[in-house]
Amino acid sequence: MSAAARAMARADELAGCSERAGEITRRYGTPELVAARELLEAWMLEAGLRTRVDRAGNLIGTLGAGERPAVVIGSHFDTVVDAGRYDGNLGILLGIGCAEELAGADPAHDLTVVAFCDEEGTRFPTAYFGSRAFLGAPLPDGALTDAEGATLAAGIDIAGNAAAEPGSGLPANAVAYLEAHIEQGPVLEAEGHPLGIVTAITGGAKLTVTLTGTAGHAGTVPMGLRRDAFSAAAEIALAVERLARDDGEAVATVGEVAVAPGAANVIPGRAAISIDLRHPDDERRGRLLGRVREIVADVAARRDVEAAVDVVHDERSVVCDPALGERMRRAARSIGLDPPSLASGAGHDAVVLSDHVPVAMLFVRCAGGISHNPAESVTEDDVAAALAVLTAVVRSAE
Ligand code: GLV
Ligand code: MN
Ligand code: MN
Repeated sequence: MSAAARAMARADELAGCSERAGEITRRYGTPELVAARELLEAWMLEAGLRTRVDRAGNLIGTLGAGERPAVVIGSHFDTVVDAGRYDGNLGILLGIGCAEELAGADPAHDLTVVAFCDEEGTRFPTAYFGSRAFLGAPLPDGALTDAEGATLAAGIDIAGNAAAEPGSGLPANAVAYLEAHIEQGPVLEAEGHPLGIVTAITGGAKLTVTLTGTAGHAGTVPMGLRRDAFSAAAEIALAVERLARDDGEAVATVGEVAVAPGAANVIPGRAAISIDLRHPDDERRGRLLGRVREIVADVAARRDVEAAVDVVHDERSVVCDPALGERMRRAARSIGLDPPSLASGAGHDAVVLSDHVPVAMLFVRCAGGISHNPAESVTEDDVAAALAVLTAVVRSAE
């Protein structure tokens, strides 16, 4: 089996670690997340990496004795709800593949492969929890809760390693962080390129807006006398969609809606929505966030409901290291490819790593540009090309 075929077979096996049968849902602090990490650790050990799990639950594999400059390759193994099998996972599997390719060789760099335990923030209101903890940040407040009221502290008890030393897991000799990731967009496929070099990662904010009105009888309260929390939420969602459309470069998504009490014949007394708002220009994103607050206040006042806006995170845009990107481009040219440059609209652990080490990202073409969807798909040839590029960068001194 080729190294690329092995990476894809492993992605299939990881897909079996899911909280729900028939889909891939692997959120932080669940036994399924730990099961996936155990698979990754077994493959790391087979590849000759020395492994450890940190306090948050990140898995770190190391090759080399610390005498050479180290390249760190990583991505995340948590997933969104009903996810695809390659988002995050592929980047870790390519790091492990890289270690396998380098077995018995005399590479110019040490290699550290990191599997981050929580990038998506699907379960708890955290942002890049895994990569921040990897870099030695204090763990977030354990009293944070998920939608069912379970605490982050309980999640850390399941996924974390309480015996691990605190502090940064970034090797002192790290010179580069590389993250290979499916593109999650349609550009490479449309332009006929297996790989792309990422120039920048778009910043984004996530908000929770909670509206409180008055629950009441759906048959008896006249329309003009209602304080319907869901109708207010719906009006806000449409106004935010219009705001992003009018900007032209922003994207905004309302992906979570919770309505209480939640019965067909009860006027909603409470509604909560998420707003995911992204813009490559940090200043313009800031202004749009201000507009969102105004929209919420205006709708709440007109509809006589109470509104609370909670900014879960607000991440800046990050520029990738041009020299590292060029190194990957040269490696790609040596195997007959000419990868285009493109920006990432999705967030990645590289954002957090960029504060501490030069970062670069390699995008792999994915069918239809589809991701955060079980239909995520890549080809073995494209995975092989990505592996060749990463391996060349770790192998060579230049
Ligand atoms: C990560 O998948 C993101 O939401 O950008
Ligand atoms: Mn994702
Ligand atoms: Mn991802």
